[in-house]
Amino acid sequence: MDVAREQVGDGELAGNLLKQGAEARVYKSSFMGREAVVKERFAKKYRHASLDSKLTLKRLLGEARSMIKARKLGVRTPVVFAVDSLSRTLTFEFVTGSLIKDILLQSGPISENTILEDIASQIGKAIARLHDGGLIHGDLTTSNMILHSEKQELVMIDFGLSFTSSLPEDKAVDLYVLERALISLHSSNGNVMEQVLASYRQSSKYWSSTLNKLAQVLSPLPPNTFVGPYMPSPKQLDPSWLSLLSDGVPRQ
Ligand SMILES: Nc1ncnc2c1ncn2[C@@H]1O[C@H](COP(=O)(O)OP(=O)(O)OP(=O)(O)O)[C@@H](O)[C@H]1O
Ligand SMILES: [Mg+2]
Repeated sequence: MDVAREQVGDGELAGNLLKQGAEARVYKSSFMGREAVVKERFAKKYRHASLDSKLTLKRLLGEARSMIKARKLGVRTPVVFAVDSLSRTLTFEFVTGSLIKDILLQSGPISENTILEDIASQIGKAIARLHDGGLIHGDLTTSNMILHSEKQELVMIDFGLSFTSSLPEDKAVDLYVLERALISLHSSNGNVMEQVLASYRQSSKYWSSTLNKLAQVLSPLPPNTFVGPYMPSPKQLDPSWLSLLSDGVPRQ
């Protein structure tokens, strides 16, 4: 994938950098004449070089596969153009639009905004499609979703932590991560999560087991209960969750 590698020169990168993270650098580039995004995963100096290359390639391929799988499940994701183990890069379609994070930060309460309502519905539907197909996104934050500027269509990005699972607890934790992200960054938009879950419930065949698990995740645990690194910390049960379960659905 020479096109992307040619453009890793520092001067060019500086202007095109979209995000410099601890694990990867993401920059705008071009691929065969199309606008593209290149995600370059850094080498981990503390790991043996050949093991590190293998793990990085596995991660790049995993991310590419998940993006392709999500598409097959009917969730809009950027088209994957190339994976290159030598330059440790994944190259995919550049999506013209706004991050959901920025849209929410610039908007008022969802109760007064039909555009936000539509976005929340699209989010719920997209997650339901992923989950029903056995794909867990793994990092559902508002920085990992873009609203396509022309079609007003939700595009999911950043499948770097995604994995396959059909377990309700994995799906519930996926939703919990989003709930936390919404509460910490977007509390001024009101209860966006309620709308997301209403749409999830409409779209997912397995919504009741997932939402029951989510209610358990959100239930306060008895004092001194061990919470492992995988389980999110407990919080008080929000009454709005309960209404989503109140349809004669048995609590587990
Ligand atoms: N296909 C795309 N089109 C437009 N912008 C994108 C695209 N992919 C990523 N971006 C921009 O780059 C930012 C970082 O990308 P991404 O979320 O994939 O990387 P990351 O969070 O650093 O990844 P990771 O968590 O896997 O280390 C996004 O928040 C978004 O602003
Ligand atoms: Mg991200």
